[in-house]
Amino acid sequence: MERVLSLEFARVTEAASMSAAEYMGKGDKEGADQAAVDAMRRAFDTVKIDGKVVIGEGEKDEAPMLYIGEEVGEGGDKVDIAVDPVEGTNLIAKGLPNALAVIAVGARGALLHAPDIYMDKIAVGKEAKGKVSLDASVKENLNAVAKANGKKLSEVVAIVLDRPRHEHIIKEIREAGARIKLISDGDVSAAIAAAIPDTGIDILFGIGGAPEGVLAAAALSCVDGEMQARLKPKDEKQENKAKEMGLDVDKFLDMEDLVSGDDLMFAATGITDGDLLRGVRYEGNYKARTHSLVMRKKTGTMRYVSAIHSLDKKPQYIMGSE
Ligand code: FBP
Repeated sequence: MERVLSLEFARVTEAASMSAAEYMGKGDKEGADQAAVDAMRRAFDTVKIDGKVVIGEGEKDEAPMLYIGEEVGEGGDKVDIAVDPVEGTNLIAKGLPNALAVIAVGARGALLHAPDIYMDKIAVGKEAKGKVSLDASVKENLNAVAKANGKKLSEVVAIVLDRPRHEHIIKEIREAGARIKLISDGDVSAAIAAAIPDTGIDILFGIGGAPEGVLAAAALSCVDGEMQARLKPKDEKQENKAKEMGLDVDKFLDMEDLVSGDDLMFAATGITDGDLLRGVRYEGNYKARTHSLVMRKKTGTMRYVSAIHSLDKKPQYIMGSE
């Protein structure tokens, strides 16, 4: 993929985030998601790719847009795309931190076609890569990450989705003496934050969505971080879904299983303020400011893009009805 595409992908997540941001705190997660999906879909039409959605809003009969298998783009490089127009729909609905608009793009076959089921994950940054294991105890992993990041155990921060299913992980982290950041939603941002030193987060533990796992793995791959994972169907229905897609639910998934190859790009724009990015700010006089993070695996470049948009001049494909 031409490197200039990375900025085009940022425009796609900017469009989604600006459209969703209008719904902040309004208690309408479906409305926010729909606005972001529409904007993201329209923005893709102007990008010079021959893209196929492999992680999207659902199967063709469940989602009118950005469904799995949908083709997007003006024509160009043949790529697979994972999208999450609003990662953290509850977060935007409640005006809470860390809602993002996210996409990952790779060569055909590069992204694991993850079904919408659960996945058990562990994520760390470059220093701790290769030193933690999904199959080791929480304490062993905390000790490994403390050593790798040059910290005392009491200085390490683990980030975990606040769910009853994680009670044992939370207990083990507390017993080990490390610190915890519990989050109500949004484990894409959380996993990436574990690989970016100035977030103060050292490791992500726990079970979240499998599509979110692949999106986060794409970002981690660009910054030489690591995710290890295993699908974790919560019931027979989820297990059958994985099997229908030819996936082995017991398989340990390393980075190459989740996202392969070097031709990989990732873009995210903040919707609400968060650990990784600031959210959309309306600055008055039809101006809105967005903050995005664009990554390219080939060069390892992480580019933070701050943009001021003139909403009165936005073409129809970004703002919909305007
Ligand atoms: P949505 O944006 O689809 O609401 O997902 C938010 C999220 O918190 C993800 O970040 C996470 O992977 C997943 O939901 C966790 O699922 P659950 O809420 O069922 O525990």
